This record gives sequence, C-alpha cells and structure tokens, in this order.
Amino acid sequence: MSQSEKNTMNNPSTPKTNQAWGGRFNEPVDEFVARFTASVNFDQRFYRQDIQGSIAHAKMLCTANVLTADEREQIIVGLQEIEVQIESGEFVWSVPLEDVHMNIEAALTDKIGIVGKKLHTGRSRNDQVATDIKLWLRDQIDLIGPLLTRLQQGMIELAASEANTIMPGFTHLQTAQPVTFGHHLLAWNEMLERDYSRLQDCRARLNQSPLGAAALAGTTYPIDRQFTADALFFDKPTENSLDSVSDRDFAIEFCAFSSILMTHLSRMSEELVLWTSAQFQFINLPDRFCTGSSIMPQKKNPDVPELVRGKTGRVNGHLIALLTLMKSQPLAYNKDNQEDKEPLFDAVDTVRDCLRAFADMIPAIESRKEEMYEAARRGFSTATDLADYLVGKGIAFRDSHEIVGKSVAYGIAENKDLSEMSLEELQQFSGEISADVFDVLTLEGSVAARDHLGGTAPAQVKAAAQRALAKLGAR
Ligand code: ARG
Repeated sequence: MSQSEKNTMNNPSTPKTNQAWGGRFNEPVDEFVARFTASVNFDQRFYRQDIQGSIAHAKMLCTANVLTADEREQIIVGLQEIEVQIESGEFVWSVPLEDVHMNIEAALTDKIGIVGKKLHTGRSRNDQVATDIKLWLRDQIDLIGPLLTRLQQGMIELAASEANTIMPGFTHLQTAQPVTFGHHLLAWNEMLERDYSRLQDCRARLNQSPLGAAALAGTTYPIDRQFTADALFFDKPTENSLDSVSDRDFAIEFCAFSSILMTHLSRMSEELVLWTSAQFQFINLPDRFCTGSSIMPQKKNPDVPELVRGKTGRVNGHLIALLTLMKSQPLAYNKDNQEDKEPLFDAVDTVRDCLRAFADMIPAIESRKEEMYEAARRGFSTATDLADYLVGKGIAFRDSHEIVGKSVAYGIAENKDLSEMSLEELQQFSGEISADVFDVLTLEGSVAARDHLGGTAPAQVKAAAQRALAKLGAR
C-alpha cells in the first residue's frame, strides 16, 4: 500500500457527506457506494495537471473580472502549497471527496476559505477531467518520444556496425535468401519510425483545450477559452462543448499507438528469443538481461524479450477496454468515462518500461557472425541467385527455376550446398553453367548483388543507416 493510500484510509477528519454536491441529498451516500464511485485512488496521479489547469482557469477568471487579482493570487498560492504537500506525501486524500479534483478544491477551501469556493466558477469537473487527462497524456507522450528515439538510435548504430554480417533471411521461417544482420535491424527500425510518427499524430490531434465546455453546454460567464488554451500550451480551444467533455479519442488513439508499438516489440522479442536458442545461436544477450532456472543449472533465459512479448497482451486489452467503454455512450459526459484512466495509465507505464528495457538491451546484442554465416550457407539460400544467373544466360525463369530445383534435390541427397558442388556436378543440370557461377553462389556475392534502394547490399545498408540517423537528428 502506498503512503497516499494509507493516508486515504486513515484520515479521521474525512467528512461524511460530499460538501461539493451534498445540497440536494437527504442522506449520506452509502459507504460502499462512496468507495465504488470514487476515483481518487487512481486519479490522484494527475494532481499536477489538475493544479496547472486550475491556475490557468483562475488567471482567466481574473481577466474576465470574475475574480479579483487578490482572489486570484490567494488561489494560486494555495494551489502551489497543496502541490508541495502532495509531493512531500503529507497531503491526506479522502475517498468521500471522490476524486482528485474535489480533494484539491476542498483542501484549497480549507486553506484560504471562501475564495477557494470561487475557483469552480464557470467550469465543471467534466471539462476539468478532460483537460487533466489531455495534459497528463501529453506529458507522457513527451517522455515516450525520446525513449523511442534512444531505442532507434541504438538499433541503427548496431545496424551500421553489422552491415556486412551475413545471416539467413526467412520466409515461412524457412531459409530463403541471405541478408545482412544490419538490414534486418533496419527493418525493425522502420516499424519504430512509423510508431514515432503515430505518437506525434496522437499528440497533435490531442492538443486542443476542452476547458470552458463546463458540464456540457458551456457557461454563462464571460470566459476566454483562448486564454486558458494558451496558458496550458494547447494549440487552440476545442470547437464543441458537448464533444469536449465526452471525447476520449485521444486515449483510444494512444492505446492504438501502444498496441501497434507493442506488437512490433513483441515480434522483435520473438526473434530475439529464437536467436538466443541453442538451435539458432545467432546472438548472445548479456547476462544482465537474462535470468536462470532454479532447477536447471545450465539455463540462461531471455526473460526481458519474453516479458515484453507477454505484456503486449495486456496493452491490447487496454485498447479493447477503451473502445468498448466508449461504444454505446450517448452524449455528453457519463460516469463510464471514469473507467478510462486505469487502462490508459497501465498502457503508458507498460510502454515506458518496455521501451526502456529495449533501449538498454538492443545495443548490448552480440552477434555470433560465424553461426549466422553457417546457417545461411546451409539452407540453399543462393538458389534464387543461381536461377537469376541462368536467366542471364538466356534461359526462361520458369525453366531455370526447374533446373535449380533439381540441383537442390541433388544437394539434399548428397548433403552439399550449391556452392560446395563442383562445376561438373552443376553442369549435369544445365550446360549453360560455367565457372563464373561461383561468383553468384557465394553469400557475399548474393547480398552484394541486391544493390538498390531498400536492398540488403552492405553499401545500401550503410547508406540507409546514415539516412535513418539523420531523420532522428531532425526530430
Ligand atoms: N472522477 C470523474 C472522472 O474521472 C470526474 C468527473 C466527474 N463528473 C461528474 N459529473 N460526476 O470522470
């Protein structure tokens, strides 16, 4: 139990009815219902954004002549003191006060008296909570972006240093054609590049201020929505008050971003798990990213990628939870929306942890170049190159495909790769084959020949890594 939860539970001075809306009620809310409907145990997480929003609102109310300058100052100083109290752990959260908004407002009123009660003029918890989540999520996005960049940086640098390392490329998890390890890593980077752009799209669409929508219809006070939007660094105020208090697209979009990112990290994880196995032996992961077995002394398990792969499930769950939360809600605010927070929080926490783990781990990968090379040599991975060679000698591709298929069948029977056959052996299958065939049957020749934009030739991989690094630099 956290200190703040203990504070919440043990608070003896907790009022019995909610003073913020208790006026029309004849009996106090049922104790269980109070706990059931409260969100303070989790929404206290965005106290800082709540205070930031309230300060902007108070300043705006003053310019609109709803508050005096003195009242504005009392409110700001009071809120700042509350922030310090929360940060030092001495603030006592109250469940009957329901949520972060009313806890802070009640504390402010305790501190500065009647002026504290004026803060909520011209606003509602409905526009307040929408503003708070947007501010909080925007802050989180601004932490996640640099984490993604750090991961990409390490990945691209590793790719550049592995531009000449040959490994088998797979389709259907069967050896297909040789590629370079650097090329494979840059494929991963492309996934992350799209994730970064999706994250920024989410931020751009999110960045409109709902403040001023009040409960649902706007307010009768002469508020200045542009003022609060500017004070909170939003691009502009939202257009429609009903939409402002009910829109949670930004949370769904963030979870969609998270799900796609996690899907990418999970695919990478799957490959890392395969590659560290005794059957592949393509890479070593340093011990600090692995754990042992309590029963099998020989084991070194790739726990970090396995866990990231596993955590993808919970993040996908959060996306579905939010979509389902919203799917049948009529306009405008409904209490259902309180359920948006925990999935969003957990998606953010999980994504941050997984990105951090990956950003630390990827640069520490040690490639086992000989094992990769051997694996590429074993699987007839240059068969397509032989077929292309025969096309170059004037044979139609379908016929050359057939010829190479027979050569491979012979290789399987004789336990020989194409490059290990003698010229005479190869010539059994086509008289067009001559000594220059060995240039294309080598793995080095095969990768070097794919020398165009997006191809696996080492020169292309090095150039692609440079371009990818330049893109990071421009962020
Ligand atoms: N705790 C609420 C939430 O998270 C705040 C808004 C409550 N508004 C209301 N009218 N009950 O959504």
